[in-house]
Amino acid sequence: SHVDPFDLVIFGGTGDLAMRKLLPALLHRYVDGQIPEGTRVIGVAREQLDDDGYRAHAREALGERPQLDAFLKLLHYRPLDARKDDGWQAFAEMLDAEPGHVRVFYLSTSPELFEDICNRLGSHGLNRGQSRVVLEKPIGHDLASASHINDAVGRVFDESQIFRIDHYLGKETVQNLLVLRFGNALFEPLWNAGHIDHVQITVAETLGVGRRGAYYDRSGALRDMVQNHMLQLLCMVAMEPPASLSPDAVRDEKLKVLHALKPIDGRNAMQLTVRGQYRAGVVDGQKVPGYQEDLGGKPSDTETFVALKAEIGNWRWAGVPFYLRTGKRLAQRVSEIVVAFKSVPHSIFDATVPLAQNRLVLRLQPDEGVKLWLTIKHPGPGGLRLRHVPLDMSFAEAFGVQQPDAYERLLLDVVRGNPTLFMRRDEVEAAWRWADPILAAWAASGEAPRPYAAGSWGPTAAVALIERDGRTWNEDS
Ligand code: BG6
Repeated sequence: SHVDPFDLVIFGGTGDLAMRKLLPALLHRYVDGQIPEGTRVIGVAREQLDDDGYRAHAREALGERPQLDAFLKLLHYRPLDARKDDGWQAFAEMLDAEPGHVRVFYLSTSPELFEDICNRLGSHGLNRGQSRVVLEKPIGHDLASASHINDAVGRVFDESQIFRIDHYLGKETVQNLLVLRFGNALFEPLWNAGHIDHVQITVAETLGVGRRGAYYDRSGALRDMVQNHMLQLLCMVAMEPPASLSPDAVRDEKLKVLHALKPIDGRNAMQLTVRGQYRAGVVDGQKVPGYQEDLGGKPSDTETFVALKAEIGNWRWAGVPFYLRTGKRLAQRVSEIVVAFKSVPHSIFDATVPLAQNRLVLRLQPDEGVKLWLTIKHPGPGGLRLRHVPLDMSFAEAFGVQQPDAYERLLLDVVRGNPTLFMRRDEVEAAWRWADPILAAWAASGEAPRPYAAGSWGPTAAVALIERDGRTWNEDS
């Protein structure tokens, strides 16, 4: 739907996220006619650049694209330092010159700067009226630092103005999960411990840490992917039906799931979790260095892979394991949610052939789609031969459109003021409350992450984690 011209200020405007994700997303929406002329996208960072310098930067990052020149005219740049006064007054005047614009302040900087930036926005009155602030992850690195940030931002902006982004919630398939679960009569009656054997969530990347080593090494896979993206996916699978799609109806249900997660701590972390770190190997036919070489030879105990077995202690999910795994430099880029149903209680077929489970597989990327694995009779004479086959729907094939990037949807949701797909403060903190004891248990154990070769599926212990329970990671995707 239509939006009026707005101002989007990107703090960290020259950074990786701005160049790789935010500007491309805005360009797509612009080409689709959803970003009206008069909109201003204002990059802010410490580098001394002018508008033209910033546009040149952006041009290089975006590459040749239709309508690029017109789009670049929307871009502006202001050099600002969150810790110094210089330039802030003029910046405020620039924004005040368009009092009718919705203002979005996108904080894509290190979270240590969030407080200073918000304070300066506040002291220049930029928190008033139709102003919104977007907090990019990570929001802190543990519960204490996250609450500190939330308090600091909350002193300047009202909770209704704060949009904590988790770009996984903007992915098409994640939204589709809502529609599949609550738009079909077929699944919900089976969506519980009575009928579901287990759930798997995999987010596998082939990329290494690239240029983000400085950030990543202080973070690791649990903080970078599990505390946010993967727990959000788990919540979307596990939550009770919200009464509506109103922001708080959805977020209340997700919060209950987070509260119901069983603790993983010093008593059980070694049984329920596996950490790994990639070594040199071959990914997509290319030789790649190991993690510590990517850091420039720095020794490190940071995990680039984690697999774990989570459980949700409530009536719907008691006893149903949720196996989560994510890692960098794995064999294949694939993200998927697998809901594995229990086998039929009694087989009337040839007892030597075990009946496979029905599995519902939601592929998030790279090829978004839904597969439902069924058992059917192999066609033809020759007796009742059973076959396990997927009902397979690829969105690209079915709809012939390229899926929009998650940021496209989410950026415009902020402009429209719709927080349904953003995290509320209590969700972020509940997620940290669950993650902190895992991190503490790892630290206390003093164990280094297990090495795995780049291009593999992670340490063999991750396979053992699920096979101990008589289950296997989904292989077809
Ligand atoms: C980011 C993480 O939040 O998500 C990155 O910080 C990760 O480490 C990225 O690569 C994955 O996002 P996507 O959309 O490529 O799956």
